[in-house]
Amino acid sequence: MSNILKEQNRRIRSGTEKTRFLFKTKYGYFTPDGNQYVITTPSIPRPWSNILTNGNYYTLCLHTGRGFSLYKNPSHFGISRWGCTLKESLMRYVYVKDAGDVWTLNWEPIQKPFEFWQCRMGFGYTTITSERKGIRGTITYTVPINRDAEDWIITLKNTSRKKKNLKIFAGVEPQLGDMTGDLVTTCIKNLFLRLRESNKVLYATSVLASTHNPSLERREEWPWQVYFGAKPTPASFDLERKSFMGNHRNACNPIAVKNGCCSNSRNVGRQPIFAFHWNVSLKPGEEKRIAVSMGIQEKKKQYKPLSPRTVLGDLEKTKQYWKDYLGGGLTVETPNPVIDLTVNKWNKYQCRINFWWYSASVSFYRFGGGFWGFRDAAQAVLGNNATTPELSKKRLLEIGSHVFSNGRAVHLFSQEYGEYGIEKPSPHPDITLWWVLSVLDYIKETGDFLILGSVIPYQNGGSGSVYEHIDRILSRACKNTGQKGLVLFELGDWNDAMNFVGCNGKGVSVMITQVLVHILKEWSSLNRLIGKNNAANKAEKISLRFKKNVNRFAWDGDYFLRGFDDQGRVIGSKRNREGKIYLNSQSWAVIASMSPEDKLKKCMESVHKYLHTDAGNMLFSPPYRRPDNDIGVITRFLPGEKENAAIFQHAASWSIIATSLLGWGDRALQYYLASNPIWRGQKPDRFECEPYVYGEYVTGRDSPHFGQGSHSWFTGAVPWMYRAVTDYMLGIRPEYDGLRIEPCIPTHWKEFSATRKFRGSVYDIKVTNRTGTGHGVKEILIDGKKITGNLIRLSKNRKSHRIDVIL
Ligand code: GLC
Repeated sequence: MSNILKEQNRRIRSGTEKTRFLFKTKYGYFTPDGNQYVITTPSIPRPWSNILTNGNYYTLCLHTGRGFSLYKNPSHFGISRWGCTLKESLMRYVYVKDAGDVWTLNWEPIQKPFEFWQCRMGFGYTTITSERKGIRGTITYTVPINRDAEDWIITLKNTSRKKKNLKIFAGVEPQLGDMTGDLVTTCIKNLFLRLRESNKVLYATSVLASTHNPSLERREEWPWQVYFGAKPTPASFDLERKSFMGNHRNACNPIAVKNGCCSNSRNVGRQPIFAFHWNVSLKPGEEKRIAVSMGIQEKKKQYKPLSPRTVLGDLEKTKQYWKDYLGGGLTVETPNPVIDLTVNKWNKYQCRINFWWYSASVSFYRFGGGFWGFRDAAQAVLGNNATTPELSKKRLLEIGSHVFSNGRAVHLFSQEYGEYGIEKPSPHPDITLWWVLSVLDYIKETGDFLILGSVIPYQNGGSGSVYEHIDRILSRACKNTGQKGLVLFELGDWNDAMNFVGCNGKGVSVMITQVLVHILKEWSSLNRLIGKNNAANKAEKISLRFKKNVNRFAWDGDYFLRGFDDQGRVIGSKRNREGKIYLNSQSWAVIASMSPEDKLKKCMESVHKYLHTDAGNMLFSPPYRRPDNDIGVITRFLPGEKENAAIFQHAASWSIIATSLLGWGDRALQYYLASNPIWRGQKPDRFECEPYVYGEYVTGRDSPHFGQGSHSWFTGAVPWMYRAVTDYMLGIRPEYDGLRIEPCIPTHWKEFSATRKFRGSVYDIKVTNRTGTGHGVKEILIDGKKITGNLIRLSKNRKSHRIDVIL
């Protein structure tokens, strides 16, 4: 038995460590406090990742440490190579050479057997610990909250009875610039790089700012330099990859490691590397630390390597940052540990990462684009409003400035750094609507009606208030209609892959008409509240008209249609051979309250009958089996994959909201768990993905891969799944004049409690399910006093309140 296992058993026996690991599988478990996911073997079904970031510096760190880093924008400022496929490149690996024996603490790429190996995914860090032949090695990778850098804290301990003279190597392959370009035009890109060494610190910069655009008209240089430094000072280094690897060798057998030292190579225009070597001697029981940092700083500045003590101090600050963040907004204690772990820890963590990096292009599954999608960025704000609304405000104003004066907006924009050809209006009808929804949600959270008066630019020049931006967006959206008086589909409503339904300007979308109805109603109430009755009446009138049209033209007997194509043919109907029923037009019918309750219940019963699976609710059914150019790319994906009838988590979250709004608490929990990564992760060989974060989709039942997850980390599901459980299942929902309490919980729950920080007060809420129905508020007491209704109005005089809710 390895020493670590012995130690662990000792701790368990002495009671200092709880034995109750959460959601244990053969690959790992959550620690009892929920703060770490511990992976117990490197050989898991797929690489699982953590994203280490402070909002500027971004590091994707797989469970073996492999991955890539970038600064602010992957198109311009990739720092290290996209390591997801480049297993045999030097990807942050730490090598140990003990006499003739060579291994990496990471396991990859050499894959030597260990007596012990473990990876702990934490908030802001990933720690790998391994033990082999008397050497225990730990690497913690972290991006400190207070510096634009990544730190690798390496700890080596001699657990044997003999003195050890080790050679340690660590390194990474920098790339500098556009990540995609790096893979395609490596040799050319290298000619723009400038590398140097000074006092055993390695530096790199590029004299061409971006290789992303084929146009070489750009005249800017890279504005920074990347440094790679360490304490203690390394014994040798390499800047040229070939010197470190050797001819016809790779990271599995680098010549430098074989030789026992690097060759202090310089680099003029060849494939770069940042590699260090140290001689470390350890007496029995002795432990030593090395701190390696790679980061970004002004050019020509000298970097002074930080000591392991400083770097460890920063790790503590980073952990504290995440602790404070996770303590904000809402925390809950329910009878279901999946909900507690998701709401209090991992979904909340993912909400922040998603808010910072709302582009889908920086994950294990997709990388390289430096663009931020208007639609996804706007929705990510929904996951941030309760914790740090001041950041939401800044982001909302930034996104809003990409709206044109005619109420359209760009589809993609690039944070800070302009890109060619992305300033055109988006051909998608929905994108601006999500921004409106998020602005209104921000006001509900904060009461900051003044944001409506903030003046921001229009994308095409001039400026206007946020109110005016919204007014123009909604005026345009209401006029953007076609057949049956429904909203045009254009090149894809929310669904990007239904790109031919309305490409000739005639197809219409039932779903987006419903979304618009919902937003018009919201806009109407806000206007009434601020005394703009004419605007309120107008929005209400238009929403009623849309509602009428949907009910008149889009009811298919048991559920709502999805739309009509350019030729006027139905989509999402019993009359279709494929794509007979779609999820979104049922969920949004309920969310927008499009019809009387019996009709809404009927359409959600159809969802349960035709779209529900044990792995979540499918986007539609049956899938398309052959390419159809009247519908779009959706028909070209394999059946059950992505938008072709997968369990698309973003859409699944809306069905949870709809189910809760109907008062079906048992079913809402059933849907929630079916889509939840922790729950799905209980069958890891089927799910394959990270059991701690949401992914874009789970493969649908028409594929042999049914139940497999994909595209983890970046998805619109992140904020929506969070809001589905907090605002609708648990029913604690901000409104303009207070907190609405409207839970819809499973009938078997006896009670749950929650702490909600809201507009400067703390509300300790206890909900008791006295009737056993799980919904329908019977009574609310605020600090012991009974109130009428279920709205907790704002209190001016007290900081904390006790709220007792009886169902
Ligand atoms: C992806 C996109 C999102 C889109 C969805 C459906 O998740 O990022 O913008 O709405 O797919 O096509």
